[in-house]
Amino acid sequence: LAYYENVIVSKPDPAVALITLNRPNALNALNAAHFNDISSALREADQDPATGAMVITGSDKAFAAGADIKEMKDKTFAEAYTSNYLANWEVIAKLRKPVIAAVSGYAHCHTSLGNVAIYVTLVGKLGGGLELALQADILLAAPSAKLGQPEINLGVIPGGGGTQRLARLIGKSRTMEMVLTGRIIDAEEAERWGLVNRVVREDSGVVDAAIKLAKEVASKGRVAVTAGKEAVNAAFELSLSEGLRFERRLFHSLFATKDQKEGMTAFAEKRKPEWTHS
Ligand code: CAA
Repeated sequence: LAYYENVIVSKPDPAVALITLNRPNALNALNAAHFNDISSALREADQDPATGAMVITGSDKAFAAGADIKEMKDKTFAEAYTSNYLANWEVIAKLRKPVIAAVSGYAHCHTSLGNVAIYVTLVGKLGGGLELALQADILLAAPSAKLGQPEINLGVIPGGGGTQRLARLIGKSRTMEMVLTGRIIDAEEAERWGLVNRVVREDSGVVDAAIKLAKEVASKGRVAVTAGKEAVNAAFELSLSEGLRFERRLFHSLFATKDQKEGMTAFAEKRKPEWTHS
């Protein structure tokens, strides 16, 4: 496994890569080096044939406290604009394999590594942390998770996708409240609003729950999992009729796979399917 200064990569299961944000002195705030490590580690896992799903998490105190304020405070408009600052955050949403965010502590939206301090082991995410987490496919939160988009308190707005992804996820008025007041919401409210799949209340904790979920996803046929992720994501980009057509074409194309033949034959023979991911 590759070594990164600001990220710990491990394999809790042969088919699952666990990416743990590790910049504790800054509550996992996302500076350029940290973000590069996160995206490289995720891309590496995405390309590893042995990996079926990824889990991204932070520490108990913070998934990620957003973009690094100290790094960006002296940036000029010209620098931000000409370098297309934060455009590279989109790499996470483009990963082919499923990503599960486990958020504990603060997650500022910008998660999917976002900044409503993203504390993804979803103990919490703030701003960019939340925006980072929002790029994940499934979000689990620890009871301690605190999520928000506090950028308004810094004289800016979310820049890592928070206004767009949150509005699609929890609707306009709740997003407006979060973005315009900077209010941090707790795990219970995030669960009620549909911002996270669920709050993990078991003693074993949110990271274990995320790994268990990742193992389950990784145990399915990879071609169908990739198609499922691509089809669901298309719902956020296409009109309903285009989306339905895209879904149906992907569905048709799966009849060309060995996994489709195996899956349906196994059902008819009342046995478990053996996927070959082909
Ligand atoms: N950037 C840089 N450093 C940060 C940081 C950030 N986003 N968040 C925390 N830190 C640093 C603190 O400066 C502090 O460092 P020092 O010990 O060197 O002083 C260390 O992490 C610990 O933080 P605190 O002492 O503040 O810890 P706390 O427990 O008292 O508070 C917190 C925790 C509520 C998360 C608080 O740190 C906080 O409000 N952080 C900023 C959150 C924020 O505004 N995020 C949005 C950033 S903008 C953005 O993300 C733009 C975008 O859309 C991409």
